Amino acid sequence: MLEILKYNNKSISLNINHQKYNLHAQWLYEISKNTLIRDPYTNQLIIEVAEINKNLFIKQAIIKNNALLIYFNDNSEHIFSKKQILNQLVKHNIKTEKKLWNKKTINLPKFNFKKFNQQMLLEILEAVERFGFCLIKNMPVKKNGINELTNHIGPIKNTNWGGIADVKSIKKAYDLTMTTRALENHTDNPYRFPTQGYIFLHCLENSKFGGANTISDGFYIAEYLKKNFKDYFHTLTTFHTFFEYQDENACLQNNCTLIELDNEKSVSQVRYNNRTEIMPFKNQKDLDKYIEARRKFWSLIKSKTNNLEIKQQSGDMLILDNYRVLHGRTGYKDTENKRYFRQGYMDRDILQSKLKTLRANS
Ligand SMILES: [Fe+2]
Repeated sequence: MLEILKYNNKSISLNINHQKYNLHAQWLYEISKNTLIRDPYTNQLIIEVAEINKNLFIKQAIIKNNALLIYFNDNSEHIFSKKQILNQLVKHNIKTEKKLWNKKTINLPKFNFKKFNQQMLLEILEAVERFGFCLIKNMPVKKNGINELTNHIGPIKNTNWGGIADVKSIKKAYDLTMTTRALENHTDNPYRFPTQGYIFLHCLENSKFGGANTISDGFYIAEYLKKNFKDYFHTLTTFHTFFEYQDENACLQNNCTLIELDNEKSVSQVRYNNRTEIMPFKNQKDLDKYIEARRKFWSLIKSKTNNLEIKQQSGDMLILDNYRVLHGRTGYKDTENKRYFRQGYMDRDILQSKLKTLRANS
């Protein structure tokens, strides 16, 4: 159903499928596909919208052949289908429903790469979007085996450490990842801006003893705080802490909150990285508050009830949403130093773009 309820110079009220929408005249003008406004091939604007005549107004509006036809006072004529208007109305509101989880409620999302096809790729990306992670079994056990999947998604992010990197115990470790030490749960590289969106962690060989991955859902924990510890939640979403990585060739710094909210006050990112946080200088009261809130946040991040343990076998690859899921590793014993993982990052927009394209074509 598409029906005009009323209109004046500057706005129009429509009934679309029994829902009332009040639309601004210039908003409609700007989303128009009229070729005086928009290039038909790229769909990009060819007029300077900030210079549209202040006195632009609707001269006449009618419904014709199930479409909205508007005549503006600059003598231009614009046709809008119901679908086009609805698409524009929801464009900025698309959010996938996230399934928040803890150890008890999660069913490990798992895929077998031997059966890989485009439908499975969509399901893999949907799982990462919904749960913040998934496990892919039977990836090729070779040095750059990660690419066998990521080549179907988009480029691996290059950082100052290069592209796909070793995760292996070495003598002169530049990061504690490269030791046999246990790693407390964390998100990767919050000192980068933007922080890398996704982690691909591929096991070529694991150690006999220990070396399992632990993961917890930062969005679940943030939600728990929001419900049960409002003051802590407020502090963690407003206090800007500081993360830094520095060596001879790099100085990476980021000022940010541990829990970030989007425009609609929904949690959009969590950060926690004990190894690289440098608490900024603030007054006694603010630091007291932050220290207390962070203490609670950490106790939930490490809590056994919130952590899923996954010991990856040769060929297993984890994909982690680095804006949501915190990961760590139990310590390990590996007398022959055989434990060998490879890790690659991907920017947020690259994976999201692939997911949206696959959705549109499915
Ligand atoms: Fe990490």
